[in-house]
Amino acid sequence: MKNSPFIYGTTVSVLSFINRENESRKLKSNLLNGINTTIISPRRWGKSSLVEKVIADINKKEKLTKTIIIDLFSVGSEEEFLEKFAREVIKASSSKWQEWMASGKEYFKKLTPKLSFGIDPISDFSLSFDLQELKKNNDEILNLPEIIAQKKGIKFIICLDEFQNLSSFKDYIVFEKKMRACWQRHKSVTYCLYGSKRHMMSDIFNNPSKPFYRFGDIMLLQKIETQKWVSFITKSFSNTNKVIDEETAEMIPFIMKNHSWYVQQLAHYTWNLTSKKATLNELNTALTELINANAPLYQKEVESISQTQINLLKAVTKGETQFTSTVTMQKYLLGTPRNVSKNKTILINSDVIHEINGKYEFVDPAFELWFNKQFFNKVYTIKK
Ligand SMILES: Nc1ncnc2c1ncn2[C@@H]1O[C@H](COP(=O)(O)OP(=O)(O)O)[C@@H](O)[C@H]1O
Ligand SMILES: [Mg+2]
Repeated sequence: MKNSPFIYGTTVSVLSFINRENESRKLKSNLLNGINTTIISPRRWGKSSLVEKVIADINKKEKLTKTIIIDLFSVGSEEEFLEKFAREVIKASSSKWQEWMASGKEYFKKLTPKLSFGIDPISDFSLSFDLQELKKNNDEILNLPEIIAQKKGIKFIICLDEFQNLSSFKDYIVFEKKMRACWQRHKSVTYCLYGSKRHMMSDIFNNPSKPFYRFGDIMLLQKIETQKWVSFITKSFSNTNKVIDEETAEMIPFIMKNHSWYVQQLAHYTWNLTSKKATLNELNTALTELINANAPLYQKEVESISQTQINLLKAVTKGETQFTSTVTMQKYLLGTPRNVSKNKTILINSDVIHEINGKYEFVDPAFELWFNKQFFNKVYTIKK
């Protein structure tokens, strides 16, 4: 049996990647021309995949440009970030471990890095500093790529994924100013800073009173269009000796509102259930499987929000728009107008709902389907 052509759960820069031609072109040109770029979208729409794809393209052609991608998702403190940043910059600057060894003396004035090599010294090492010294002299790390780039006549592109995570660190306000002050002077380093928490990202990059305001271009990544999904899905089926007609294939992005992760997941389940030709039967079973597979997550999500917020979600599910009208507030037990507006802000800021053309909808389309089933006993079945 062939492997599934549909991938979710990891980034998809080569396999299963639908070309985002315009976004790729713009991002690539920005990064090669020294324009710092911020990318914002809800999670699982495709930011990390897009950046990986563009960086892979750049790596193929631009030998004097060194690229780095750091995922800040699991980084827990400023010190940990600085160590990781320094290590990645040093590692990208050369392929020779002898040069890594020498970098301590060559590039640092105040700090003394301790390098330790693991089992395979040719490909890996770790780096540590005295933590108090590190924090005091953090500019030495923040400026490291520029200093190395100047000395070696190279350029860096540094991509920091889930950038908003930094803002939860102790003393972030001071650190934020420092980062901006250092990085805006860099001539040979370009930054790509992206993240999924829209509210936090906009607060960092779109707020005139914050240091990162106007740091660079802001790209609000959109969803992939239906037609591209349809041709990707039909092609992927036929490449693996199965069939899905266009009409059935179109239902997949339709149900999942073109949400990248879920389109891939639903396509995968459908493909898996299909022996020869996919029909609405397979598709409906796949949808049930998908919702069941994700149910524990959704269960947790509703457990973490208050009863009036759940009630507000019910109103959203029913397509209400005037949440503060007396009828709506009474019908769904939304509390006072103050409650409503507070809850709305909380749900928007935590990316549970968003406003599209004056209407509110769930950011997560499968969560909405599960919610409907759970609270209204309404099961979505796909019909012709
Ligand atoms: N360009 C693309 N083509 C096809 N599928 C994609 C694309 N971008 C993202 N996906 C799907 O969405 C999932 C989440 O993508 P990812 O890049 O991790 O999103 P983000 O970084 O925005 O959270 C991937 O695992 C993949 O299934
Ligand atoms: Mg990501």
